[in-house]
Amino acid sequence: MTRSITVTKSGTVSTNGTSSLDQKRILSGITPSGSELHIGNYYGMVTPSLALQDSDEYLTYYFIADLHALTTVQNREVLENNIRNVVLDYLALGLNPQRSVFFRQSHVPEHSQLAVVLANYVGYGQMQRMHAFKDKLQKGSDIDAINMGLFNYPILMAADILAYKPYGVPVGEDQRQHVELTRDIAEHFNASHPKIVDAGGLVGGFSGVSTGVFPLPEPLISKATGRIIGTDGKRKMSKSLGNIISIFDSPAVIEKQIMSCYTDPNRKKATDPGKVEGNPVFIYHDLVNPNLEEVAQLKQRYQAGTVGDVEVKKKLFTAHQALFGPMATKRAELVAHPELVDSILAEGAAKARFVAQETLAEVYKVIGL
Ligand code: TRP
Repeated sequence: MTRSITVTKSGTVSTNGTSSLDQKRILSGITPSGSELHIGNYYGMVTPSLALQDSDEYLTYYFIADLHALTTVQNREVLENNIRNVVLDYLALGLNPQRSVFFRQSHVPEHSQLAVVLANYVGYGQMQRMHAFKDKLQKGSDIDAINMGLFNYPILMAADILAYKPYGVPVGEDQRQHVELTRDIAEHFNASHPKIVDAGGLVGGFSGVSTGVFPLPEPLISKATGRIIGTDGKRKMSKSLGNIISIFDSPAVIEKQIMSCYTDPNRKKATDPGKVEGNPVFIYHDLVNPNLEEVAQLKQRYQAGTVGDVEVKKKLFTAHQALFGPMATKRAELVAHPELVDSILAEGAAKARFVAQETLAEVYKVIGL
């Protein structure tokens, strides 16, 4: 007997649909580390991931990796606060619970259960070569100060991913190694437990094709926008470097961040011809400002020495507020309705669990539990 299951775009399930899942799954996790979102995160990670939710080809799963946060946050209030903020940020920035399954990792215990199993399919040596651990060690961290949560982090991440058998995992370049490890674990598991699937209705093993439980997930790394330069004009935008343009901070703070942005150091006065290429203010204009004509004119006048830095920056601030202002309003509305946010997460967890439970049951069966 074949049982057919269809998961629709809204994540609801029907058992009378076609014989296979008609949408490819996409999955990604967001660690609530407490750092405030900035436009580098938005263009580097948020928009490329969220763009996928609008395609009917994909069914998107996005979750808050709250268990992953425990490697660094071990204070209840701080953790709760970080989680609340990241949930609000993503919903305000366009995560659409009608189109994406949005949930918290800890609400789906199958992630943890699968991690315990998968730990047996990766060697200690390979784990020691994982960047997060290796970097800490090389920076001189005392080995007793590196907790096992951090060491095991990539295994939990592999479980997060494999529980949903996704086609692709949108991540930043820094997470490539983790997705590769996930593929290695999946391959090792598959090779250890080949399952025979019935090909063509003949009963028995001979006509079947041997395949594994886990399809290998693709890392989806957006090259174009993966690395947004900071306002210092030198390094990647990052909260810890203090070179960010915030999204949801007060307008006064954002204006200050923009007004103090590095531009063309060789330009002493507004009448000097300026350099546009690689100039952070124009990189940001290209991202934030939908008025292409205004941007083209500003660039022209900048190169001709007929516009000052201040005007370019003021227009950037205006464009920033036009784009993110309505999202800030939406965020404030969500803050006022925590029950709405809770119900979104509860619904997401139920939809996610449906898939993760099925995978875990399949895994337990093939390994003999
Ligand atoms: N480790 C990821 C990060 O720091 C977050 C994450 C946790 C994740 N689990 C995941 C990303 C599963 C993709 C898939 O950005």
